[in-house]
Amino acid sequence: MSIKIAPSILAADFANLQRDIEMVNQSEAHWFHIDIMDGVFVPNISFGMPVLEAITKHAKKTIDVHLMIVDPDRYIKTFADLGSNILTVHYEACNHLHRTLQAIKAEGMKAGVALNPHTNVSLLEDTIKDIDLVCLMSVNPGFGGQSFIENTYKKIAQLKEIITRNGASTKIEIDGGVTDKNASQLVEAGADVLVAGSFVFRSENPLMTVSDLNKQVNS
Ligand code: DX5
Ligand code: ZN
Repeated sequence: MSIKIAPSILAADFANLQRDIEMVNQSEAHWFHIDIMDGVFVPNISFGMPVLEAITKHAKKTIDVHLMIVDPDRYIKTFADLGSNILTVHYEACNHLHRTLQAIKAEGMKAGVALNPHTNVSLLEDTIKDIDLVCLMSVNPGFGGQSFIENTYKKIAQLKEIITRNGASTKIEIDGGVTDKNASQLVEAGADVLVAGSFVFRSENPLMTVSDLNKQVNS
């Protein structure tokens, strides 16, 4: 399977959002990664439904929504209606994760679970077959532009072992501090999807940055 590149729109220029969305459309990226923050689960507020609606109007690739909000069950249907293809909730924000996963799938979306850096992957042992995507946070969620936490490599290996042993087809996404310096090692460790925010949007030529990253991990 080819490795997916998912630029994080959090790092886009919101005053030129349509321009940055078209850049991703034209690039070799595979997904749009959309970070929704509520100021409660994480110490930051990003953007909400009206902005997501504006994004999906122009975005022509898979919409990968990462909810950093408390009690995400309240909004599953809303995010489905807004055009999300993958809906990821945080393990730490769900009291009944199994039920939440079923509710996401019932709305026709792929179900993802994100783990904070401190959350052990073994906690997914009993739900792994119900999870389409695990998003391993390689920074503490809330902000773009933070540095990558090295312990993530170990977590990828542990998660991969759980997926294989259970015969699951769960994909592993890495979110936070991804650059051309750690991309190859992440993929060797077992990553399937690389989210990249600042590395793409703060670069001089985002189109070329995505293209180079894609070539680096898919050849
Ligand atoms: C962090 C977000 C990430 C973030 C990644 O809370 O979930 O998706 O946008 O940004 P970079 O790639 O700049 O670390
Ligand atoms: Zn994210």
